[in-house]
Amino acid sequence: MKTKISMILLLSSFAFAIDPSVNKTKSETGIKQAKMNWVVPSAMSDDGYLDEEKLPKGSKYIEAVILGNKILNETTYYIGPKAKDESKRYAGNNLSCSSCHANGGTIPYESGFVGIYARFPQYLARGDVVATLENRINGCMERSMNGKPLPINSVEMKAIVTYMHYLSQGVPVGANVEGQGLTQVKLLNRAADPKKGKVIYEEKCSACHGEDGAGMLNDEQKGGYYVYPALWGDDSYNTGAGMYRLIKAASYIKGNMPKGDATLSDEEAFDVAAYINSKPRPIKANREADFPDRRTKPLDMDVAPYDDDFSIEQHRFGPYIKMQEVSKSKAK
Ligand code: HEC
Ligand code: HEC
Repeated sequence: MKTKISMILLLSSFAFAIDPSVNKTKSETGIKQAKMNWVVPSAMSDDGYLDEEKLPKGSKYIEAVILGNKILNETTYYIGPKAKDESKRYAGNNLSCSSCHANGGTIPYESGFVGIYARFPQYLARGDVVATLENRINGCMERSMNGKPLPINSVEMKAIVTYMHYLSQGVPVGANVEGQGLTQVKLLNRAADPKKGKVIYEEKCSACHGEDGAGMLNDEQKGGYYVYPALWGDDSYNTGAGMYRLIKAASYIKGNMPKGDATLSDEEAFDVAAYINSKPRPIKANREADFPDRRTKPLDMDVAPYDDDFSIEQHRFGPYIKMQEVSKSKAK
């Protein structure tokens, strides 16, 4: 019965589904490179801070690298709500870049930054444009950090980019690195269930992130950035962020959480991601303008318009398998 319905839908609609081949074609660089290994520079300590003793003294480049590393780890003091200079409060929340790109972006499969400088400029489907590294950083500033773009020529933007350049040493332009991005998660053939997610959350997440999802600041020791970041509420990422999309959040969680014991099944990762993303958080305006080429719009975007007939609810929680099958058949 089910197959019959999907067949009818397939035949009845012309511009029907997301077409992954369009994204692939538009992302093609034509640059052929071997895949590189994940190599973190030896001056990097395990906690994600650079060991300045191991770095050249008196170098302006290294000064920028060190500043960039600090901005990523303690973002709020430099470009967020706790910056002394009010004109520099570009980020709207107190998260750090390292709240998601752990340890200054040095952890594989946690959206790390090793080799990142060699992967930009890059086609980004969300804007249907070729974006520079600065543009991509500002994507996270406006969404994950719920703030404003950092001026391209600011000392802070240059420091972040210089740090990323340093982390990309030895990686040739256009190469990919084993460990970039996130772990792949298997899609479910049922919708993710926030109620089941709540049970998992209370058992496996709330000890660090709090019953109320508000996380924990390290006031006592260093004064006010997150040790355990806020997962929802006013001080977390907004609805335009990658982490708000279910498949992406499930991938991140599956690969990395609970921190130090990332053993959730795919189903648990989806359910707990659905729970977190059902909670209130800042709203990103104008999301219907994201992914202007609708053939590249990800399955887990919960705002219309779509190039398919699935409901907003299904885009939000799945099941995604059927949607993916339709996408694949379109791509042939
Ligand atoms: C709430 C989580 C979160 C925070 C905070 C965050 N990001 Fe991101 N960022 C993401 C996610 C999710 C992705 C997409 C990862 C993927 O799809 O592989 C991403 C992607 C990126 C990328 C592209 C990575 C790549 O491999 O192509 C850059 C660069 C980036 N972020 C920079 C930053 C910077 C700089 C900050 C701090 C100013 C920041 N991000 C804060 C979640 C976050
Ligand atoms: C032992 C403490 C700990 C536990 C338990 C834990 N986390 Fe985390 N979580 C962290 C830390 C620390 C970070 C910051 C990134 C990093 O260091 O990996 C983080 C980051 C995150 C982020 C990205 C940051 C943000 O603000 O969105 C998400 C999402 C997340 N955790 C979800 C979960 C979920 C879901 C669970 C339960 C399955 C969980 N975590 C359990 C410590 C923990």
